[in-house]
Amino acid sequence: MGIICWDGSLKIGVDAVDAQHRHLFEIIDHLLERMTTGNPSAALMDGLDSMRTYARFHFDAEERLLDMHGYPDREAHRQAHREFLENLDRLTAQEPTPEMAHQALGFLLSWYAKHIQTEDGRYAPFLAEAGVR
Ligand SMILES: [Fe+2]
Repeated sequence: MGIICWDGSLKIGVDAVDAQHRHLFEIIDHLLERMTTGNPSAALMDGLDSMRTYARFHFDAEERLLDMHGYPDREAHRQAHREFLENLDRLTAQEPTPEMAHQALGFLLSWYAKHIQTEDGRYAPFLAEAGVR
């Protein structure tokens, strides 16, 4: 059991998307754990790299699903994903300091929780209507 974990309140109702969201929280949790037990700077840089790789995979999968079903707000959704990746790039371009680590973790957690509850939560009824599970 980790420090940070995905919970049912963040459920979208599409199994593949929920599993990916859960994995994103596992990456954050793993990062947090490694930062408290090993070399925090190395852990942070590795963790942000893993996050970038997995976030790209997840955003692509989500965007394909929204395109496939013709979700009307898909361009705004795509833009939110793009902004997240740009912010992540800005963070990783900085020197890994304890302040930066604090800022990075805060950003990851608050962005995902908010994005899943608002933007992802908005497409959930649309996909449910389209019969996607
Ligand atoms: Fe999303």
